Amino acid sequence: MRHPLVMGNWKLNGSTHMVNELITGLRQELSSVTGCDVAIAPPALYLSQAKQALAGSRIALGAQDVDVNLSGAFTGETSATMLKDIGAEYIIIGHSERRTYHQESDEFIAKKFAILKQQGLIPVLCIGETEQENEAGQTESVCARQIDAVLNILGVEAFQNAVIAYEPVWAIGTGKSATPAQAQAVHKFIRDHIAQKDTAIAQQVIIQYGGSVNADNAAELFAQPDIDGALVGGASLKANTFAVIVKAAATAKKA
Ligand code: PGA
Repeated sequence: MRHPLVMGNWKLNGSTHMVNELITGLRQELSSVTGCDVAIAPPALYLSQAKQALAGSRIALGAQDVDVNLSGAFTGETSATMLKDIGAEYIIIGHSERRTYHQESDEFIAKKFAILKQQGLIPVLCIGETEQENEAGQTESVCARQIDAVLNILGVEAFQNAVIAYEPVWAIGTGKSATPAQAQAVHKFIRDHIAQKDTAIAQQVIIQYGGSVNADNAAELFAQPDIDGALVGGASLKANTFAVIVKAAATAKKA
C-alpha cells in the first residue's frame, strides 16, 4: 500500500522566529502520528535552521525549488548538491507560481527532475491546468503534456521514488478546492497515464493533491483511492491546522 505524503509549502513566508516556533509546534502535534510521511519546505534561506530544529523528528525537510546547474556562475540559485548537503529530501519543482512568474517551461522543469534524480533527491513534480484550460476541457491533455516532458526524456523509471502533485492552478490559494470527485478523476487519469508505460511504477507513485487543502476538506479528499496526501500552502503555516491534515491522511485509508 502507498504511504501518503503531506508536505507543507511555506512559499515566501518565514523568519528565524517563525521557523523555530512553527517547527516546535509541529513536533508537539505530530509526535505520535504514524502512517503518513510528512515534510515541510521552508524558504531556502531557512533550510539549515529548519534542519536543526527538525533533528530527531519524523518530519522530513523539503525545498521549494532547485536550479538546473550544480555549481558555477549562476547568481541567486540553489543547487541540488547544496540541498542534499544540508539534508533536504523532497524538492518541489514546476510549481505553478514558478511556471507563471518565472516562465519555467516543461522542458526546463524536466531538467530539474533529472538533476534531482541524479543526486538521489525526491522530486515533487507539480502539474495542473489553469482555470481557462479547465473550462476548455483541457485538464487531461495539460497534465499529460506536463508529465510527458519528464517521461520522454528520462523514461518511466524516473517516477520510481518520485512524487507528483496535481494542483489545479485555479484552486491554489483561492479557497476553491477541487471536489474530491473532480480530483480523484484527474488522479486516476494521471496514474493510468503512467501505467501505460509501467503498471508497477504507476501503482507505487505518490500522487498528492494540492490547492486550498484545509482542515475541513482534507479527510474527504484523502478518502479517494488515488489521492496520496497533499501539498499544502496556506494551511501549512499553522501547526494545529497542518496537524489535522496530516492526521486525516494517516487514517484515511484505514477505515
Ligand atoms: P494553497 O497552496 O494550499 O495555499 O492553495 C497550495 C500550493 O501552492 O502548493
